Amino acid sequence: MWKHSVENMESFWDSQAQMIPWMTPYKTVWEKPLADDFVGTWFDQGKLNAAHVCVDRWVQNHGDETALIWVSEEDTDSSPKTRVFSYRELSTYISQVANFLHACGVKKGTRVGIWLPMIPEVIVTQLACAKIGGVAVTVFSGFSATNAEQRFLNAGCEVIITADGGRRRGKEFLLRETLSKEFLENPSISKVITYNNISRSCKTTEKDLPWHENVSSMPTECPAEPMDSEDPLFLLYTSGTTGKPKGILHTTAGYLLYAMSTMKHVWGINGLLSPQLPHEREVWLNTADVGWITGHSYLTYAPFALGTTVVLYEGAPTYPAPDRIFQLIDRYKVTHFYTCPTLLRQLSSDTASYTKKYSFDSLKVLGTVGEPIDPTTWRWFFEHVGKSRCPIVDTYWQTETGGYLLSPFAGTTTLKPGSCGGPFLSIDPKIFREDGSEASPGEKGLLCISKPWPGIMRSIFQDHDRFTREYLKRFPGHYFTGDEAYKDVDGDIWIIGRADDVIKVSGHRFGTAELEATVNEFPDVVESAAIAIRDEIKGHAIIMFVVGKNSIQSNDIKDHMKKKLGSVAVPDRVYFVPDLPKTRSGKIVRRLLRNILLKEQISETSTLINPELVELLYQSVRDE
Ligand code: WTA
Repeated sequence: MWKHSVENMESFWDSQAQMIPWMTPYKTVWEKPLADDFVGTWFDQGKLNAAHVCVDRWVQNHGDETALIWVSEEDTDSSPKTRVFSYRELSTYISQVANFLHACGVKKGTRVGIWLPMIPEVIVTQLACAKIGGVAVTVFSGFSATNAEQRFLNAGCEVIITADGGRRRGKEFLLRETLSKEFLENPSISKVITYNNISRSCKTTEKDLPWHENVSSMPTECPAEPMDSEDPLFLLYTSGTTGKPKGILHTTAGYLLYAMSTMKHVWGINGLLSPQLPHEREVWLNTADVGWITGHSYLTYAPFALGTTVVLYEGAPTYPAPDRIFQLIDRYKVTHFYTCPTLLRQLSSDTASYTKKYSFDSLKVLGTVGEPIDPTTWRWFFEHVGKSRCPIVDTYWQTETGGYLLSPFAGTTTLKPGSCGGPFLSIDPKIFREDGSEASPGEKGLLCISKPWPGIMRSIFQDHDRFTREYLKRFPGHYFTGDEAYKDVDGDIWIIGRADDVIKVSGHRFGTAELEATVNEFPDVVESAAIAIRDEIKGHAIIMFVVGKNSIQSNDIKDHMKKKLGSVAVPDRVYFVPDLPKTRSGKIVRRLLRNILLKEQISETSTLINPELVELLYQSVRDE
């Protein structure tokens, strides 16, 4: 099937596209780009609406099926606190929110900033935007207000949807109140809608509107706007190698179909697409936050578009007890469980096995995403959660790719702990040496994809040049992932990690330049360098080397990072150093800092402009 799909890409995607209820059929599956832009046009002249594809289309024949089960952090077995929506109820709610957004001036192409905790409203708002053609710009609620504001302003958002606050690990955090006066007064922002989630009142401006009264008074029907295949669906900001986060643009048909097709084939999910099969509900639990791509593709869009039942948990997966997620798996008879290596490392590192209490009988397939999973953690997941019975799909992909590039296929391909398996259908991966020649089996190189696919990003918002420069020019005719990998003799791929200055901390992505730019803003900082070192739980931890003045302390830096970027970006350690090692052209040599920190042999200092610094750096690290 893979061979056929690569050799006949268009006919393969033509057959997959039958999963979408088109409003107007497309004329061509794929049109080659005129310039060397790789992506081309997908499903030209087709019309569809993502909210219709995901939710409304199920209402007529499956309206009573459960679409979404939301579980509060405050829920316990004896005192449940949940909200359950059937497909019909979800569709009605989306329509009401869409009508309200429309009344607030949102129309086709309007960017809507979404800054909400993990409550049903975050999914409902994303789909309500889609329903009337608005472009959702969702920011992780764990990010600081400064971070969210920058992204919303960069995206040209006109309407912002947020909440008074949320709950995480038994504590309340505030959202609306933390937005700055300057942001609220910015003329490009016309309305700020606040969902009352934790009953926290806040001083309002004339731009503020409460969610509750307005949404509940709206009509329960809203026509779905017919969107062109290539109309934008959302922008999602992610970190790259330079300072500014980039707004990754995904469009409607290609993205949605790719997310659906990958989820269906990799996990072996039928959902409501094959109602003639014996009717067994597929219950999907994904621990990713909706603010990340995994939360977009495999929480808001594909699971509903396939017609599964989605379990959404409000809090941290290990709160109020480490086995919280396991309790939900048994309670809701979850069939497909998707999570990240960081969480599994946390759970497996605890010697008292939490898993013994649970039957996990309902589970069929397990999956991980976001970072390489080490074979020990993989085996723990397989034996203790999957009871040596459920395949694990180690899914490799990126914000930019929309859906999986590499993954095993559950129940079909051989599993190798630590490998992401082979390519998804129609994906043609290549491992290149720096000079562009192909690496031999077992040889490390740079992972590229040689054919486009429907879910690939279309652009970086307002910076198309950066898109072509960073992803398409390095190996002309190929998409460059930025990751290092090797292929084994069976053709299975093993991801080593980023080949660029991107750091992954607990699956969250940061660029070294972004971290350094934030630290450098602090008044008593002259300059700084960020490096990553391995961390047993988080994958990587951030270490900052700072050239400071006056009596600056490491807590000043940590507090500043927390305020500006959010707590996930707080460095584990801060070293104050007299200077940073640099090349003659002024480039910071981060590799040398890592060598010093890890007490590794330093191979080469002759390229440094300041080789005498090395001894002083050793001393600073020792003194700390
Ligand atoms: C890394 C997350 C190893 C990789 C969906 C990639 C992985 C970056 C895996 C994208 C995996 C993602 N094994 N590494 N299964 N999945 N990565 O945009 O370095 O947050 O380039 O998307 O995560 O991170 P992003």
